[in-house]
Amino acid sequence: MDEAALKRALAEIKTVKDEQALTRIKINYLGKRGLVTKLIDSLGNLDISQRAKVGQLANTAKKQLETALNDAFTELRHSKLQKETTLKTLDLTVPIATGIGHLHPLTTIMQELINLFWQMGYEVVQGPEVEDQWHNFEALNIAPNHPARDMQDTFYLENDNFLPRTHTSSVQIRYMNRHKPPIRIIAPGKVYRNEDEDAKHVWMFQQVEGLVVDEHITLADLKGTLLAMAQGILGKQTKIRLRPSFFPYTEPSVEVDATCVTCGGQGCQTCSHSGWIELLGAGMVHSRVFENVGIDSRRYNGFAFGIGLERLAVIKYQIPDIRELWRPNLKFLEQF
Ligand code: DAH
Repeated sequence: MDEAALKRALAEIKTVKDEQALTRIKINYLGKRGLVTKLIDSLGNLDISQRAKVGQLANTAKKQLETALNDAFTELRHSKLQKETTLKTLDLTVPIATGIGHLHPLTTIMQELINLFWQMGYEVVQGPEVEDQWHNFEALNIAPNHPARDMQDTFYLENDNFLPRTHTSSVQIRYMNRHKPPIRIIAPGKVYRNEDEDAKHVWMFQQVEGLVVDEHITLADLKGTLLAMAQGILGKQTKIRLRPSFFPYTEPSVEVDATCVTCGGQGCQTCSHSGWIELLGAGMVHSRVFENVGIDSRRYNGFAFGIGLERLAVIKYQIPDIRELWRPNLKFLEQF
């Protein structure tokens, strides 16, 4: 054993990749009959003049080999451990998932609506989901004894003045309070109703509110806008009709029907053989609403509408149960 041999041994330790080979090297050099051990044992037989030199070499060799071996063992164990844990967490034999998912039908239809109105120059605005009675009812000309305020329809919060909004019409008030005409907005968002759920009703759903205020706005503008909307979402062949209705915040008020998507207007089970399906509520903004927000109703007029998003999805995709839209049911959702 000399210095050259020590260098070779140290180099070998660095290249060895398994524990067995390392153990062999350890035995060869540091074992009972190992080269370094033998060298140390032989010191007694050496000339005094040689002893110091060889002794020093033997000591250095022992220390350096021990350190190198220890380091090599630690590193091997460490990388072995790392390999084991990565293999356990990342199973490369699992087949790669083929489906990459898609948008929820409600998201798709919301984006379509927003795009449609965006193209017609509407601004998209939002209001709070927790409202006060003024914005949700009073300002919209809904009297305190109006059935819409009934506990059966409305959830109330502990402080009776606040409630999860029952419609997005409250955003009309918020917007008109802060902006002067001309106004052209849509306000999408969630609304809440104290209702029992069934195939046609859910207690939380989404609406898209529309409001246009300017000089010389007429019911014809409302009709044209809603026809563009209906054809944009349900197809070019769609027709609409307006029926007289009542909402406290519009005068006149209308309910808007679209030709049935299932039968194209011929009459079928979906549309109770009428050929028409109710789409939304709308009307010309009531002068009292304008007064409540400080807009001059002699100079300005406008129209408003409110579409239920889930309802529109049910019509468009012919979904038999509206509750599916809020269930995490992949079998249902994968159809879209
Ligand atoms: N707020 C009504 C509802 O929740 C929908 C509605 C009707 C909105 C007429 C309007 C409107 O803006 O003019 O059923």
